[in-house]
Amino acid sequence: MSDTAAQPTGGAGAAPAAPALEGPQPATGVGPVVEPAERPAAVEFRDVTKVYTTGSGREAVAISRVSFTIPDLVGHGEISSFLGPSGCGKSTVLRLVAGLEPQHPPTQGTVTVLGQPVVGPGADRGMVFQDYTSFDNRTVLDNVAFGLECRGVSRRSREAEAREWIARVGLDPGRDAGKYPHELSGGMRQRVAIARTLILRPRVILMDEPFGALDPATRLDMQDLLVRLWREVEATVLFVTHSVEEAVYLGDRVFVMATTPGRIAEEIHLPPAAAPARETQSQPWFHEQVHRLQERIEAIEAAARRP
Ligand SMILES: Nc1ncnc2c1ncn2[C@@H]1O[C@H](COP(=O)(O)OP(=O)(O)OP(=O)(O)O)[C@@H](O)[C@H]1O
Ligand SMILES: [Mg+2]
Repeated sequence: MSDTAAQPTGGAGAAPAAPALEGPQPATGVGPVVEPAERPAAVEFRDVTKVYTTGSGREAVAISRVSFTIPDLVGHGEISSFLGPSGCGKSTVLRLVAGLEPQHPPTQGTVTVLGQPVVGPGADRGMVFQDYTSFDNRTVLDNVAFGLECRGVSRRSREAEAREWIARVGLDPGRDAGKYPHELSGGMRQRVAIARTLILRPRVILMDEPFGALDPATRLDMQDLLVRLWREVEATVLFVTHSVEEAVYLGDRVFVMATTPGRIAEEIHLPPAAAPARETQSQPWFHEQVHRLQERIEAIEAAARRP
């Protein structure tokens, strides 16, 4: 995909616990939005297994028989969080959606995006990694404009649009556009990474621990930014994180994954991120959800340690 070409580096349905008295209430069972049957899902995994062959020729099952459906909500989109212990296959799932090797193609099963089987990278998908994917030798402006440059957009148009996106992600077009990545903080670099992906208006945005390296306060700011931009671009977001709080705040649905083999252990539906992160994350229902999920993940980790 041109989005991926633009990446220089980096490379079952249980209901949540009863909500507390106030704040948005988590839905039980299937989410509130009913999709017309004929509309293809944004992302669908059908019985997907990925077996890697390691350098020594040994086979390792990364994920086994993973199935899920993320609907394509018209004029809305949805954020799905993927949560689970290290090695459960979160990145494998994301990169299969992106069509990136060696995760793509799956060993078995089918991955479809917007009704079409994934055959490789495509402009309908954009990816943001943890490690601030930007070209070190390009300015912020040229980094953000890069994807449009690949699409043959004229310098004047792409730079005008890049300046708009630089402002949208909370950077200062006047002060920051001419800077190089090494002159930016981690949070600023991740804003650039988000701008250079969203400028291409992908329908599906894949984010692999994008805020994992940021300090807690910056992380909350970035969560707010993501929610704001996601409402604007109306895309479907698949968001991998190790933070239970982040998964619960951002996720309209949360996929909890387990290891050995990597699989979906649980899918829960939650209210969309309606209020700012700091506000939502102080509410009782939020703490209950986080606590319940933390216990679930601890149980998954304990089971994986058992011989
Ligand atoms: N290219 C590869 N070759 C061989 N094995 C791999 C490869 N990539 C991943 N694996 C294995 O597949 C399993 C799933 O890996 P994956 O990177 O998807 O997990 P993850 O959930 O993203 O982990 P983390 O939270 O640490 O990022 C792991 O056991 C990993 O060692
Ligand atoms: Mg990973």
